Amino acid sequence: MGRAGRKAIAARLPELRKAWGLDFVVVNGENATGGMGLTGAHAQGFFEAGADVVTLGDHAFDQRDMLKAIEAEPRIIRPLNFAKTAPGVGARLFTAANGKKVFVAQALGQVFMKRPFDDPFSALDAALKAAPLGQMADAVIVDFHAEVTSEKMAMGHWLDGRASLVVGTHTHVPTADAQVLPGDTGFLSDAGMCGDYNSVIGMDKTEPMRRFITGMPKARFTPALGEATLSGLFGETDDRTGKALEVQMVRVGGRLQPQGPA
Ligand SMILES: [Fe+2]
Repeated sequence: MGRAGRKAIAARLPELRKAWGLDFVVVNGENATGGMGLTGAHAQGFFEAGADVVTLGDHAFDQRDMLKAIEAEPRIIRPLNFAKTAPGVGARLFTAANGKKVFVAQALGQVFMKRPFDDPFSALDAALKAAPLGQMADAVIVDFHAEVTSEKMAMGHWLDGRASLVVGTHTHVPTADAQVLPGDTGFLSDAGMCGDYNSVIGMDKTEPMRRFITGMPKARFTPALGEATLSGLFGETDDRTGKALEVQMVRVGGRLQPQGPA
């Protein structure tokens, strides 16, 4: 989320990669540029810090630069069920530094989203059938970019046993329900943002508060610039099956209580 989030990734991801022995890192970057969308240059910053893949979201193309950048950079993924004419792809098989095959897919939810996106359940079903876990893919990571926890939990169960991890994004507030589902899929309703939590979902709180309190907009939204908490989900998978062995919520730096693998 904005410059604060970019700074937190640049400062902390390299050390976390080493300290936690991370084989593969996915960063959701859709609000990293000025709080709306992502430029190709800022995506490259995430790759330099240690991201293997950057996902987008409903703000995928808010920065026009991304229309071209996504065609030139296969490590950027946009939602599967975005407009049919959108550039880029919504899922791809990657090779991790350790040689393992990791399939990453992203889809948008339908509840309380600004446009009526196509059905994400059938979209992810088809995508995952193309790269079955434990066969073509050593791990399957799904970023479900959606507003409500009910839809995200339904997606977790829909993909249980077929994905290594199903992680929600988009609300910018982490949920406390990290778990391994009965079919051995790691799940978290929402990973939260890498951003300044002295804010309204990452934006300087003045203007969002004014709009809620008075109903009268006066200025543009701008990202809050205090120290960000790097938020996310850590998961370990079984080398043989690709299923989740454990998951742990991650919160490093900034205002939220610290959490993560020991
Ligand atoms: Fe979003």
